Amino acid sequence: MNSTTFEVLFTPADFAALEARDLTETVCVVFDILRATSSMITALANGATAIMPLAEISEALALRQDQPAILLAGERDGVRISSQLTGGIPFDLGNSPREFTKEKVQDRTIAMTTTNGTRALRSCARAWAAFIGSFLNLRATSELLQREPPSHLILVCSGTFDQAAYEDVLGAGALCELLWPTYRTGAVSDSAEMARRLYLLEKDDLPAAMAWSRNGRCLLANLDLADDVPFCLQLDRFNLVAELQPDGFVRRRPQASSA
Ligand code: MLT
Repeated sequence: MNSTTFEVLFTPADFAALEARDLTETVCVVFDILRATSSMITALANGATAIMPLAEISEALALRQDQPAILLAGERDGVRISSQLTGGIPFDLGNSPREFTKEKVQDRTIAMTTTNGTRALRSCARAWAAFIGSFLNLRATSELLQREPPSHLILVCSGTFDQAAYEDVLGAGALCELLWPTYRTGAVSDSAEMARRLYLLEKDDLPAAMAWSRNGRCLLANLDLADDVPFCLQLDRFNLVAELQPDGFVRRRPQASSA
């Protein structure tokens, strides 16, 4: 019988609290459905070697100085980081998962900084393991967590600026639903039940849920970025698990072959 304690953190205010917690026996799964974690999964699926999630633009620029071959990726206010923000160094990619094509990212290492997603991931750096959550790789992640249930599981919703983001709660809720048969016997917090129930309410029409969410509305109103929304909703497009490793890079986790 599973005895995992299982909770969902809804807002960025929880990042600081997370950094102060003892996470040595905790697995975190971080969701930034629109779009940071969806972009990371797409990049790795298309052959990127590793991604360094960074909170600040200056950290990405410093890494580029050390490793000139590294690709710079990320956004501020949803759009690719401009030369004006970097003192003249153009970022190679924004934060649209559709930009992370094989042609651009295969065998490349990427330094990525986004408003919330990369910060959320950094706040899990001391966890026993931290996985990258998205609709794109939901089943692969859930299968791993069912094979290897941790003592504590925390699903972290990245949010938007300092607020909760609806799509992240839906992503976390979708994972709760997949894990429910295994994890329901553990110490399940109300937050996990809340996320799961919200997902069950919305699951039959996720595009409609996205269309009124704050991030969904912003992206759909931008002709260049609107297609990111349906892209990020593709369920299980990629069969991969990605984790933040002790050296600070996100990489694919070698998967056990399925029976
Ligand atoms: C973030 O990290 O805050 C988001 O991924 C923002 C975005 O998609 O533009």
